[in-house]
Amino acid sequence: MRILRSVKVMQKITTNLRKRGKSIGFVPTMGALHAGHFSLIRQSRKENNYTAVSIFLNPTQFGPNEDYRRYPRNLKADATLCKKTGVDFIFNPARNQIYPKGYKTEIKIDKLSDLLCGKFRPGHFAAVATVVNKLFNIVEPDTAYFGQKDAQQAIIIQRMVKDLYMRLKIKVMPTIREPDGLAMSSRNNYLSASERRDAVVLYNALETAKTMIRQGISNPSKIILTMRKIILKKKSARIQYINIVDLNELKTVEKIQEKVLIALAIWIGKTRLIDNAIITPARN
Ligand code: PAF
Repeated sequence: MRILRSVKVMQKITTNLRKRGKSIGFVPTMGALHAGHFSLIRQSRKENNYTAVSIFLNPTQFGPNEDYRRYPRNLKADATLCKKTGVDFIFNPARNQIYPKGYKTEIKIDKLSDLLCGKFRPGHFAAVATVVNKLFNIVEPDTAYFGQKDAQQAIIIQRMVKDLYMRLKIKVMPTIREPDGLAMSSRNNYLSASERRDAVVLYNALETAKTMIRQGISNPSKIILTMRKIILKKKSARIQYINIVDLNELKTVEKIQEKVLIALAIWIGKTRLIDNAIITPARN
């Protein structure tokens, strides 16, 4: 496994691989790798000749009061695990490789970026789309792998790829969960023992919503109210949003008649956690 820090060198390697007809799978990450990332890496290994993982803690996608400074960083441990999982390349650029002096271009995916998490994290999705675009241009993968846990991010990236005729496939893989249902996230590291116990409430609320929808309840307000009650039973929990939206425009639905995305962001103490479920209603 090679660790590369230079854009030029990474580009040269993948250009050569492509000339030799090799396929490249790509898993973009910000490090602090967990089982969710490794499921993406394993999928990439199954489907491609080579797998590249980027580890770049992208400063521009964090708001001024967010957790950029305390976000877990552990390149050594990440690299050891990547090597064990059969990763071929880690791309770990310095900030000035990705944002050289004078850079000016930003990618903005209108509307989708201002809903759900975007409402509370202005500029976040433009920063994600921009860095992902840069990474795609550097690595030039055949397929890039994202987790369903960041559902809005995955939808926005898919939109960008489609709108800009980008020549790669996006694969969205299921959320990987702890045995009690908590979605794997690098931010779970922040939770105290009691907060960690409370954090399962995101999953429990989603499971209850799933059951209600499958029982034929189609009124989103009723479902959200039940979810709120479940979540607020935990002292450490504070709701940022719970929303039931369609999968294309991410618009709030009035009545659940087709597949919907239930997305939520919940503060557990000082840690903001997100989770979601895609649910198909029962046909009558
Ligand atoms: O999901 C993430 O870890 C980040 O948003 C990504 C896609 C690596 C861009 O920085």
